[in-house]
Amino acid sequence: MTVRQPFACFVTGTDTGVGKTHASATLLHALNAAGYRTAGMKPVASGSDWRDGHWHNDDVAQLRAASSVTVPLGHTCPFLLRTPCSPHLAAAQEGVRITRAPIREAFDALRRQAEAVVVEGVGGFHVPLDVGAVRWSTADLADMLGLPVVMVAGIRLGCLNHAVLTAQAIRARGLNLAGWIANRVDPDMLLADENIATLHAALDAPCLGELPWQLEPAAAAARLDLSPLFAANQYQAEASGLAA
Ligand SMILES: Nc1ncnc2c1ncn2[C@@H]1O[C@H](COP(=O)(O)OP(=O)(O)OP(=O)(O)O)[C@@H](O)[C@H]1O
Ligand SMILES: [Mg+2]
Repeated sequence: MTVRQPFACFVTGTDTGVGKTHASATLLHALNAAGYRTAGMKPVASGSDWRDGHWHNDDVAQLRAASSVTVPLGHTCPFLLRTPCSPHLAAAQEGVRITRAPIREAFDALRRQAEAVVVEGVGGFHVPLDVGAVRWSTADLADMLGLPVVMVAGIRLGCLNHAVLTAQAIRARGLNLAGWIANRVDPDMLLADENIATLHAALDAPCLGELPWQLEPAAAAARLDLSPLFAANQYQAEASGLAA
């Protein structure tokens, strides 16, 4: 059996609804095609309904459907909240505190079960997870996991400003923006190609590919170039080996 270098990445986006789940599922399919045993993770999901004996969230379901390894639901999503709103507000409604340890434990469990883990963030990069005594946000979550970051740019009006700000925020946390994905979420956007060309010029990071409007993740997987992500994982493994 081939032993592969462990792989993981953190997927953030220029906003909520820009295609993080769509892109994460596409990354999982691309990794499946490269022969990896894969698991998607959504550490915090808000908005779920009771179906077939368990709480169902669309992001979690899509990530699990694109994964090649079947894992316990609690490892895919340790904080599955019911109310469809910002996670810290959903958690408050339900009397839950979103804390670091269960997420860390679920991620470590996934790393033991799969060779490649794709972690989808929550909303945009700075969405609060708790504004109480323990103040933390999605940026802190990405920092805690310390993974190479993939930024999904939803190609729609406003994406240039959102993409540049998000890239700055990722780097300001000392994280590696290993690549970005142009996701065509708006088929009617004017000058979409020119906007993508502007992002190529403005973002000092490799573009992993473009995802067309309405192409399913399994079919779109071949459009992604994973080599910058493999290089980022390799670099990280060497750096942690040197530090050990
Ligand atoms: N390339 C695409 N073509 C057509 N529809 C798309 C594409 N990418 C995303 N969508 C649709 O846009 C919506 C938002 O996408 P998605 O759920 O992946 O965004 P998200 O960033 O993960 O959102 P959230 O912040 O809620 O997690 C979904 O209905 C999805 O099916
Ligand atoms: Mg999502």
